[in-house]
Amino acid sequence: MMDIKEILKLADELVSAKTGEHLDYLQEAILRGTLQGRKYSDIAEEMHASEGYVRDVGSKLWKILSEVFGEEITKRNFRAILEKDKVYNFSYHGHVYNQKHIGINNLNICSQTPQSPQVAQQPQQTPTQPHIDLGDAPEIFSFYDRTTELTTLENWIVRDRTRLIALLGISGIGKTTLALQLIKQIKNNFDYVIYRSLRFSPTLEQTLTNLQQIFSPKSEPIQNIETQLSQLLNNLRQHRCLIVLDDVQMLFSAGQLAGQYRSGYENYHLFFQLITEISHPSSLILNSWEKPREFVQFHQENNQMRCLVIEGLRDAAKEIFKNHELLDENCWQTLIDTYQGNPLWLQFTANLIKELFLGSVSDFLQCGTVILSEPLQAQLDQQFQRLTQQEIAVMKQLAKETEPVYLPQILKVMQLSASDLLNAIQSLRWRLLLGAKEENKTAFFTLNTVLKQYVKNRYFN
Ligand SMILES: Nc1ncnc2c1ncn2[C@@H]1O[C@H](COP(=O)(O)OP(=O)(O)OP(=O)(O)O)[C@@H](O)[C@H]1O
Ligand SMILES: [Mg+2]
Repeated sequence: MMDIKEILKLADELVSAKTGEHLDYLQEAILRGTLQGRKYSDIAEEMHASEGYVRDVGSKLWKILSEVFGEEITKRNFRAILEKDKVYNFSYHGHVYNQKHIGINNLNICSQTPQSPQVAQQPQQTPTQPHIDLGDAPEIFSFYDRTTELTTLENWIVRDRTRLIALLGISGIGKTTLALQLIKQIKNNFDYVIYRSLRFSPTLEQTLTNLQQIFSPKSEPIQNIETQLSQLLNNLRQHRCLIVLDDVQMLFSAGQLAGQYRSGYENYHLFFQLITEISHPSSLILNSWEKPREFVQFHQENNQMRCLVIEGLRDAAKEIFKNHELLDENCWQTLIDTYQGNPLWLQFTANLIKELFLGSVSDFLQCGTVILSEPLQAQLDQQFQRLTQQEIAVMKQLAKETEPVYLPQILKVMQLSASDLLNAIQSLRWRLLLGAKEENKTAFFTLNTVLKQYVKNRYFN
């Protein structure tokens, strides 16, 4: 007996032979639902789409299939027609189609899909190949660990269909690398997979135009932002898309508290909000140094919106040292702890050790203080440029502390009003620059060794 998956594959081949286009995500869901005897309203609910919309897509689909089969096909008779034509009951033993002749009103499938037996024996792929456009995404040469993060993200996106996800973390921690690895792993669940960096701060109009070009390359650019938005949302409804927008911090103001949109960029807020509110099967991932506004007030149980803070690599970071041919393996853990497992910071430091200490980690550690190589320092300059004066004052105070401190302690020694201090601390938390821990129901704040050293180098020398 041919199962549903095989019928869908067959339908996809027939439709694409006729129209030149594969079945999209929703069309496939409608066929599957019909074969399972389900109503439009059920299918719509499962697809997070409105019933009217599913009906529209369905009726167009039956028209196409009617032309393919040469007789009128509707949701009611689809199954019966397949059974009549012995396709549904066709005994299928995992052989390629072209070894059996399936005739449906003289349509000869073998001529549509010449396949070799080897291909057919491979595990079933999704019927449609995703359209992948990664733009100027960097190439990944090596990838270590991140198993937990990848599993979490796959569950949120593929299983739960979370619409908006933020990957947050300090520069160099591995957000871009993780997002690209995730794409490799889950791309076959999507019709479209897109990566775009916002590093040059494009306006929302520019971003939407850029995305629209991917969905319909020949279309004329539209000026009206409302139309652009509704077109994109339409595409997100019709196709299952995975879109990664990287470097989202470039939409936020420097010199203001974290996550405040630059002037002229406020409409991104509306865009991100619409992505969570409107029903569609697609997902948008935002990579950022700063927590976007949208994520400040939300509950983790909200399925439409989730946030993952990326921490440093642990043991896997040793692979970086192996690559750099560093020596003294027994000291490697100290290096990982000092540089917070941040792969970029570790790469910079490994380069320095290789060049100046001929790879000897123990000689390097004998220097006593935490050494920040010039590129590492420059990397942190970029992040510190974004802080407010109050935030810098808090960082300077924390750099002087040897132990984690709690709020009343900081307030006592600083010349800031309580509200300015609290806002600055909260903003530094949203920038992932401040460590926090809880002891006896009190929150304590601290700077990690690298940030502490950076503040000392920059402000105390
Ligand atoms: N899991 C990993 N395995 C191996 N290398 C990694 C991993 N994660 C990050 N790296 C390396 O660390 C460096 C920084 O990673 P990446 O560019 O992804 O960081 P990022 O968080 O996107 O930084 P930024 O916010 O500045 O864009 C890159 O050279 C990358 O190759
Ligand atoms: Mg990046």
